This record gives sequence, C-alpha cells and structure tokens, in this order.
Amino acid sequence: MTVSIISENGIAVVTIDNPPVNALSQALRQALVEAVAKLDADAAVKAVVLICAGRTFIAGADVSEFGKPPQPPHLPDVVATIEGARKPWVAAIHGSALGGGLEVALGCAWRVAVASASLGLPEVKLGIIPGAGGTVRLPRLIGPAAAVELVTSGSPVDAKKAEGLGLVDAVIEGDLLAGAIAFANGAAGKTRPEPISSRAVVPVEAGFWEGAEKAVAAKAKREAAPLRALASVRRASETDFASAMAFERETFLDLRGSQQASALRHVFFAERAAPRPPELAGITPRDVRSAAVIGGGTMGAGIAAALRDAGLPVILIERDAAAVERGLANVKAIYDGSVKRGRVTQAIADARMAGVAGSGDYGLLADTDLIIEAVFEDLSVKRAVFEKLSAVCRPDAVLATNTSYLDPDAIGEGIAHPERFLGLHFFSPAHIMKLLEIVPTGTTAPDVLATGFALARLLGKIPVRAGICDGFIGNRILKVTRAQAERLLLSGATPAAVDAAMRAFGLPMGPFEAQDLGGLDIAAFQRKAARERGETPFAPVADRLCALERYGQKTGGGWYDYQPGDRAPKPSDTVAAIIAEAAESRAQRAWDEAGIVDAILLPMVNEATCILEEHVALRAADIDLVKIHGYGFPRWRGGPMHYAEGRGLSEVVAVLDRLAADGLAEPPSDGLRRAAKAGGFSVLAG
Ligand code: 3HC
Ligand code: NAI
Repeated sequence: MTVSIISENGIAVVTIDNPPVNALSQALRQALVEAVAKLDADAAVKAVVLICAGRTFIAGADVSEFGKPPQPPHLPDVVATIEGARKPWVAAIHGSALGGGLEVALGCAWRVAVASASLGLPEVKLGIIPGAGGTVRLPRLIGPAAAVELVTSGSPVDAKKAEGLGLVDAVIEGDLLAGAIAFANGAAGKTRPEPISSRAVVPVEAGFWEGAEKAVAAKAKREAAPLRALASVRRASETDFASAMAFERETFLDLRGSQQASALRHVFFAERAAPRPPELAGITPRDVRSAAVIGGGTMGAGIAAALRDAGLPVILIERDAAAVERGLANVKAIYDGSVKRGRVTQAIADARMAGVAGSGDYGLLADTDLIIEAVFEDLSVKRAVFEKLSAVCRPDAVLATNTSYLDPDAIGEGIAHPERFLGLHFFSPAHIMKLLEIVPTGTTAPDVLATGFALARLLGKIPVRAGICDGFIGNRILKVTRAQAERLLLSGATPAAVDAAMRAFGLPMGPFEAQDLGGLDIAAFQRKAARERGETPFAPVADRLCALERYGQKTGGGWYDYQPGDRAPKPSDTVAAIIAEAAESRAQRAWDEAGIVDAILLPMVNEATCILEEHVALRAADIDLVKIHGYGFPRWRGGPMHYAEGRGLSEVVAVLDRLAADGLAEPPSDGLRRAAKAGGFSVLAG
C-alpha cells in the first residue's frame, strides 16, 4: 500500500495505490489522516485532489477486516478529518466509489468522476449498513428520498445519474487527473461549500417514512440490514449530525457481528474465489471467440442467449428445418421477454438475435471455437451428436455436454481428441441463472477445464467444478431434498406445511411447489434410469402422481390442484388420499416449522458431506454457491454448509442420529462425524 503526494502550482495530488481495489485498510486510513495533516501545514497548497491508481477509486472498507476488532483510526474519524481539513479536497473518481470509498468522497468538498464511474453504498448486500456517515451525509447532500433508494437497495448509480442527484459535481471528459486538477484550480478561488455535516435535511412529505418502511420490508423479506439502514437514514433526517452518526455507528457495529453479515461475507469471498481455483493457477484457457449450441429446446435456446449476451456469435444446430425454426423462435421468445421486462432495448434484442444463425448443417462448425450440446437427455442421441462433431470440428475446438444426469465419460466415449471434451451444466433459465457446474471427464485437459472457468467469467456466471456422479453436486443434493420432503409426508406433514416451512426458512419456494412448477416428469425420468441401473430411489408418492399423469402446473395438478389460468396451489384431496395410503402403518407425528426444516436441510448437508469426501466438490463453499445460485438457497444464510457450521456440526450429527433412529433420514456419514470432531468441513476438502 502506498499513498503518494505531489504538489504543483498550489494543487496537491494524493494518490492511493492499494491493490486490488484500494480498500480502506488500517494502514490506508492512517496514511490519509497523515496526508491531511501534512497538506494542511503546507502553505503552498490551495486545494487537494484525491485520486486512486489501478482499476478503481476506493471500493470500500476492507471486508477482510470485518471479522476482527476495529482498529483506529476509525473510518468516521478519517472522513471527518478530510471534511474538516483546512485545504478543500476534491475526490477524483474512476471505477467504483463504493461503501467507505463513497463515504470518503462525501468528506471531500467536491466530487468529480469519469462517465464510466459508479457510486454506491452496497453495505446492505454484506448484511451491514454504512458505518462512516453514509446514511447521515447522503440525505444532507441529495435529500432523504434519493438517499433511501441508494442506501436500502445497495445498488450503485453511474456518474451521470450521480451528477443529476447532486452526488457528483462534475463529470470529467478525457483524462481524470488533468480534469480534476483543472476543477480544483477553478474551485480554489471560489467559496468552499458548507461541509455536508453542517447542512440541513430537506423535509419529507407526510407518510414518507411509513411508505418507505413498507416498501423496504417487502423487498428485504427476512434480511435485517435494509430496514436498519432505512432507520438510520430516518434518524439522520430527524436529528442532529452527531446523534445520527452515533446511531449509525452503533447499528453498523451491531450488524457487523451478526449471523447474516457473516453469511453474506462468506458468500462474497466464495464468489470471488470461485472463478480462480488454485488448482488451475497459471493455466491458460483456450481462446473462445465463436460458439455453437446443438439443440434449440429449453436449455439450448437459453444457452444461446447467454452466449449472445456475452458478445459471441452463435450457430444453433437442430435436427431439421422445422426444428431450426422452433429453436430460433425459442431464442426470440427469450429476447421478447427481456424487452418486455425492460432488461434490454428492442434494438439490442434485434442485434443479439441477428447474431444467432440457425441451421441443420454441422459443416458450418468447422471453425467454431466452442460447441455446447443440449439435445435430449439420451445417451445414444448425445453420442451420435459428438460423433458428427468429431468429424467436422477443429481438433482444438472445445466440446461440451449440458447433460443433467448422464455420465459425461460415457457420452464422450469415442470422441476424437477427448482432451477437449467436458461437461458444462447450465441451470434453467440458462440466460438468467448464475450457476455453471463445470465437469471434467477422465480425459479433459487442464487448459480445457480452464476454458470452462473463463467462459463462466465471460458469461457473468459463478463457476463450480463438479466431479462425475448422478446429478453432479446440485441435482444430487436435490434428490435428497425431494426424498426427505416425501418422508415428511409419510410421517404426518402435508405438502403445504412443508412448503410453508421452507419458505419461512428463506427459500423462494418449497420443494413441492417447485416440482409442480418445473414438472414432475423430469425427476421421474431420472428415477427410471436409476432403477434400470439397479438403484432404488425413494419417491412412493411422486411415483403414484406420475402414474396418474399429475406432472404439475402444466397438467392442472401435481402435488397440488390448479384451477385453469390460476397458478395458485390448492391442497388436493387426491394427493392427500395417496399420501394416507402410502403412510399406512407408519408412525405419525406433529411437525413444527423448525422440525421440518431440520428434516430436509440436515440430510442435504449429510449428502453434501459425502460429495466433499468423494471430491465431487473440492470446497464446502463451492457447495454453498451451487445451492445459492442454482436453487435459490437464501444468500443471507450463507448456503447449507455455512449454515451447518454456524449451527454446530455436533448438533447436526445429533439431530441426524435422532432422525435416523426414527427411520426419517440416513445416519450421519463418517465424514460428517469427522468434520464435527474437527469443528468444520475444511478437514474433508480436497
Ligand atoms: N475489501 C477487501 N477485498 C475486496 C473488497 C473489499 N471491500 N472488494 C473487493 N475485494 C477483493 C476481492 O476479494 C478480490 O480479491 P482476490 O483477487 O484476492 O480474489 C479482488 O478485490 C477483486 O475483486 P473482484 O473480483 O470483485 O473485482 P472486480 O473488478 O470484478 O470488481 C468491485 C471490483 C466492483 C470493486 C468489486 O470488488 C466490489 O463490488 N467490491 C465490494 C465493494 C463493497 O462491498 N464495498 C463496501 C464494503 S463495506 C464498507 O465500505 C463499510 C463502510 O461503510 C464502513
Ligand atoms: P428439450 O427437449 O427442450 O430440447 C432438446 C432439443 O434438442 C430439442 O429442440 C430437439 O429438437 C433437439 N435435438 C434432439 N436431438 C437432436 C440432434 N440430434 N441434433 C440437434 N438437435 C437435437 O430439452 P432441454 O430441457 O432443453 O434439455 C436439453 C439437455 O439439457 C438435456 O440433456 C437435459 O438433461 C439438460 N438440462 C436440462 C435442464 C432443464 O431444466 N430443462 C437443466 C440442465 C440441463
């Protein structure tokens, strides 16, 4: 970390260089306080420009310090020191001014930014609120309504919008440093604006706070930080600066040690570690400048859209002319939806669509860099596709399968140059869902595996490496979720009670509602394949429902009944009768929400532990990312593995032992018992 100061013609330039993102470490905070003292004492200096080296302005407090006791100088004091400096400071912003970074900028007399800069207070996304005056200065600068939006959403705004809000004083065209120095020179002769801390807050309309509270609560659901942030902005708008600062700091310190903040920090670092697994360090991925997708159904169309959104030209191959038309129509439907939802403009949608070439001719793939297969889930159909690809594609083209459950090693048998083949498992809808499971086969070359990770980065997805097993990481755990949900039904719970308990835990949907939405036939197909392999999947009620062709919403009934045109699930007498029959002679009990959640979640953790032990997943945090980004597990719970560690693995073992004794779950695995003894999953990680 360095903070350098140079002065010329009365303007001092303070440059922060603290890679990677100029986070406000203790050393940097100290250096800033010292810079203020030094420049205050320099009679030749009229004004100060604060600028950062590297890719960004200060991106915030140093999140890695949050687990430890705060060290002085504390950030609120640093900001106050800059605000109180004898020489006015100008923040010169490029990249991101986030969290503590924006708070430092609010201590400056002026803020200028390049047009590509973004400014925001993302603290709520880390389960905390701004802790250095963000909630107190912002309403004084831009008014309470705009401050509430910025602080409670955590979403940044670009420089132009910030200028409109009064958050930025000037947007600089061209070189930032030169522009900022020119601005400082112009400003040095003028009256310095009143410090933000001394300004009054403009009054709000009657009922404003009550309305804001309702809106924020509805969006935050069970996340604590957004409402606490709102309370802090409100306090700042209704009381003097010093008491508001004290209230903000107290809330910040309280939340910093909370379970939600710890979970969100865990996910923050897991997401940043995921794209760069240490085992692939130094391996250069292959170049991917063009792509093709084989199969234009649900997944193929979504994958094609994801590739187009990342700027790659795409060839979409289907079986015949009619299927090509259907495939292209599927991609177009995705873009029509994106335009309708305001995600892209019609012009962008048209340009993306124009970059998809549909065809039945594999010969077009002779020079394509990456080909992803998404045809029917049938081994012989997939093998036939790869046979054709082997004949036409360049030997270094990367070939991938999007299979859900089939063995990629079996799919890839006979492929020419098998080192360029791997599994890339997308999640539906593929252009939206963030998770990408990357599955190396026995023959995948390291640079091809690295290409999978590079592709994820290009597509803005979270990559997780998964070993080969039935369902890889996510769907293997999903099988346990479903089996446990059915065990609950056979022992006294109803579908509605199970779904309600899982929603109360924080999932967007319970397991039965989710199956009705996605269709029960997909899992039935997978169970059929498992039985053909001699396995005995447990789904006594689901099997009966499928026999009655109750596949979910699309057939008017599944685990629930649906009225035509209405997606609201209604408890079903038919299903209740099937459950009663299947449950005959089994012990019944009264289930409460906590008991239901334990009976579903802890067996998932048990399965996930086997996945770790078998090195199907390399890190517990990867499993958390899979559940969060592929299955809607609440981010603020940190994922199932983080949740289990927080709960205490010995307690998890004890609950599983009790469930197993009643025949309601598998007993804890040896690995889980070992992890419990060691106090964490790291003992199992590969
Ligand atoms: N503290 C510590 N490390 C951080 C960090 C932070 N605030 N922000 C990013 N990093 C690290 C990442 O862990 C990563 O480390 P690695 O290379 O060792 O994996 C590295 O910086 C690069 O991060 P990204 O991969 O995310 O880089 P990008 O260029 O894609 O994105 C960014 C840059 C937009 C700045 C993004 O990193 C980001 O959004 N960071 C978080 C910003 C944030 O949340 N700030 C608020 C912090 S809380 C706060 O300020 C409290 C205050 O009110 C008191
Ligand atoms: P789908 O049935 O919607 O689409 C399959 C498409 O492949 C059809 O359009 C069909 O015409 C085409 N096709 C079949 N044989 C072909 C061939 N020889 N050449 C070219 N095209 C051919 O199926 P869906 O749901 O898109 O699934 C595709 C694959 O993705 C399967 O392996 C599935 O297991 C997997 N998958 C599915 C997920 C889902 O949620 N639907 C999630 C993740 C993976």
